[in-house]
Amino acid sequence: MDESPYVLVSPLIEAYAEAHTTDEPEVLARLRRDTHLRTHMPQMLSGHLQGMLLRMLSQMIRPGMILEIGTFTGYSAICLAAGLMPTGKLHTIEINPEMVEFASGYINEAGLKSQVIMHTGDAMEIIPTLPGPFDIVFIDANKENYTRYFDLIIDKIRPGGWLIADNTLWYGRVLDKDAENDKETAGIVAFNKYVHSHPAVENLLLPVRDGLMVIRKKE
Ligand SMILES: C[S@@+](CC[C@H](N)C(=O)[O-])C[C@H]1O[C@@H](n2cnc3c(N)ncnc32)[C@H](O)[C@@H]1O
Repeated sequence: MDESPYVLVSPLIEAYAEAHTTDEPEVLARLRRDTHLRTHMPQMLSGHLQGMLLRMLSQMIRPGMILEIGTFTGYSAICLAAGLMPTGKLHTIEINPEMVEFASGYINEAGLKSQVIMHTGDAMEIIPTLPGPFDIVFIDANKENYTRYFDLIIDKIRPGGWLIADNTLWYGRVLDKDAENDKETAGIVAFNKYVHSHPAVENLLLPVRDGLMVIRKKE
């Protein structure tokens, strides 16, 4: 077993948890396999446990409008869309057109074509064009921009709405003072501090997978 202090959950416990969690829908299992075959960084995908958590959070909230920043191959978009109201929409933004094409095939197969609106381009430019208000925002794009995404989106989240940010433990590098020299770690560290002291929100840093920051906008 890995003795690294940065391993949040032992691989054995992780495997047990997966074995006792509802199976992924067939389309997501295929998407995951295809992501491993056809992309260079398959570890970016949310995966079974985190995907199920996103799905269940969305099903609890029953959102009308979701925004995802960072589509990749579409795994988390499909999970989050599971909780949408029948008339609800999920907007998802991805800078890499190849990933948009990859994801759109699976989003169509999942029967979500009419509910998922895909945007190709830089989230910093696209977010200001989106109307909102959003019930859930999932931040999962480049780490150095997390605080900027927060500032761009906070006024477009409804009071009592939710923001979830992935990778907020960043493989444990948030604890490593030297690692703050690297832009991504510095981005995550700055985001965690910023959110934690922001008067408009309350927050929970959930040590699941690579750290999910769950943020609720106060009413
Ligand atoms: C961690 S992956 C997203 C994983 C996906 N949400 C999931 O859980 O399956 C991050 C994605 O953000 C995209 N990205 C990076 N910078 C971006 C930007 N400035 N605007 C939009 N997308 C960006 C990357 O191309 C990559 O596909």
